[in-house]
Amino acid sequence: MSKSYPKRFCLLGFTLVLLLILIFLVFCFSSSNESSHRTQFFSSLTLSSLLDHTNALQSSPSSSIHSPPISIKRRSNLERREEELRKARAAIRRAVASKNYTSNEEVTYIPTGQIYRNSFAFHQSHIEMMKRFKVWSYKEGEQPLVHDGPVNDIYGIEGQFIDELGNIMGGPSGRFRAARPEEAHAFFLPFSVANIVQYVYKPIASPSDFNRARLYRIFNDYVDVVARKHPFWNQSNGADHFMVSCHDWAPDVSNSKPEFFKDFIRGLCNANTTEGFRPSIDFSIPEINIPKGKLKPPYMGQNPENRTILAFFAGRAHGYIREVLFTHWKGKDKDAQVYDGLTKGQNYHDLIGHSKFCLCPSGYEVASPREVEAIYSGCVPVVISDNYSLPFSDVLDWSKFSVDIPVNKIPDIKKILQKIPHDKYIRMYQNVMKVRRHFVVNRPAQPFDVIHMILHSVWLRRLNIKLSS
Ligand SMILES: *[C@@H]1O[C@H](CO)[C@@H](O)[C@H](O)[C@H]1NC(C)=O
Ligand SMILES: *[C@@H]1O[C@H](CO)[C@@H](O)[C@H](O)[C@H]1NC(C)=O
Ligand SMILES: *[C@@H]1O[C@H](CO)[C@@H](O)[C@H](O)[C@H]1NC(C)=O
Ligand SMILES: *[C@@H]1O[C@H](CO)[C@@H](O)[C@H](O)[C@H]1NC(C)=O
Ligand SMILES: *[C@@H]1O[C@H](CO)[C@@H](O)[C@H](O)[C@H]1NC(C)=O
Ligand SMILES: *[C@@H]1O[C@H](CO)[C@@H](O)[C@H](O)[C@H]1NC(C)=O
Repeated sequence: MSKSYPKRFCLLGFTLVLLLILIFLVFCFSSSNESSHRTQFFSSLTLSSLLDHTNALQSSPSSSIHSPPISIKRRSNLERREEELRKARAAIRRAVASKNYTSNEEVTYIPTGQIYRNSFAFHQSHIEMMKRFKVWSYKEGEQPLVHDGPVNDIYGIEGQFIDELGNIMGGPSGRFRAARPEEAHAFFLPFSVANIVQYVYKPIASPSDFNRARLYRIFNDYVDVVARKHPFWNQSNGADHFMVSCHDWAPDVSNSKPEFFKDFIRGLCNANTTEGFRPSIDFSIPEINIPKGKLKPPYMGQNPENRTILAFFAGRAHGYIREVLFTHWKGKDKDAQVYDGLTKGQNYHDLIGHSKFCLCPSGYEVASPREVEAIYSGCVPVVISDNYSLPFSDVLDWSKFSVDIPVNKIPDIKKILQKIPHDKYIRMYQNVMKVRRHFVVNRPAQPFDVIHMILHSVWLRRLNIKLSS
């Protein structure tokens, strides 16, 4: 008995040393400040910081201690995914350096010209996205709050996207669907804020019925379910998870636990930077008024010579910006035509088709369907807003196909627009005609259309490359 004591001590000492080494290793590979580590990964262009982050994810104690066999499998899945992203980044850098693309597939459209911040980077990034990007749309939850959404009217893009990504099996966008979640680079939470508001917020009897508590509960429950059932949310703290919603309330979903949702990617129409929209994490999607039974309004655009109206707006007096606009311009000028409603016999699309510039003032919220209506009709959008982060502005240079007028310059609208030289206007008009393809809704979706632009916004954030020339 007495002999065995030293042996035991020896064993104990050995175990202790092993443990210390293990703790040291875990400490080295995992970050002492998780959030800063993650921030570094998601905002850095360098490959080294990227690989650091991959290591930190792989040796996270929860996956290696509790379920070793699964963690080995997960590790290789994760490695494979990261390797694909690494190749994509390298290809984009090559395209920028050589000012040309490489593609194994036939190229149907080559982005060129001023409307792009860097056309080569964007083109290659889109090629890489088509080739590699896999998205897992979570299957949990039931219609109509999940897997469904409005497909018409001003929130229509929400339902169109949910439907395209989750429900359509074939078509060009079918390639983005991961067969298994382990293959995915990004995870889609297919719930519809517009449907939650429509179906859950009923009846509305008093202002207190608008309280966001119900929205918070539904959203938090959903994230809770997928984070408990699958390993993916916890692996990235939601940094490769995204939502897409056009409803005014959509930014609120993450407000109940801002710390928990700080890395989560939100695709929003309501992209108001003063209300917490973060352009490097979130992305702005266009509000599109989708008519019933069709995907876009009729094209009634005239050529520039026939556009006899300098500036045009017709819409309700929603929000403080339009109040200012009406005070200065409603019914006052035949060059800058501002209406709070059209009379019988006036055709909205015909009027914007005859206008050079279309005023797009924010309404109750920053986004309005007017930018896209103008673009569809070949009318140069005049964005009148404060703190609005414009759709797809990682890729598109809005200054080449729109005019930005801050709210305090509303009295000068006519002067500002008249001062734009004719040849500059023509260039902007041509750029508007060119940028249209990125705002068009196709079902099934087609490369470079609005659904692909939304996916590309997610892809970019996953790659964490900000395109700039
Ligand atoms: C952790 O990182 C965050 C974000 O970069 C930073 O604000 C915070 O000060 C850091 N905390 C420590 C203890 O280093
Ligand atoms: C760009 O690349 C394509 C295909 O790789 C090739 O056909 C084309 O000639 C190249 N253009 C230039 C300007 O190098
Ligand atoms: C993810 O983390 C949460 C909270 O820490 C935990 O409740 C949940 O079980 C974890 N999920 C998985 C799949 O381990
Ligand atoms: C321009 O207006 C003229 C006269 O109204 C019309 O005949 C012509 O078709 C218009 N051009 C276009 C491109 O709409
Ligand atoms: C943007 O957010 C700020 C802060 O909540 C708000 O005051 C402003 O009205 C919003 N902008 C629009 C156009 O709604
Ligand atoms: C919002 O817009 C106002 C007016 O243009 C500006 O003074 C303010 O700095 C902006 N705030 C942010 C957060 O961009």
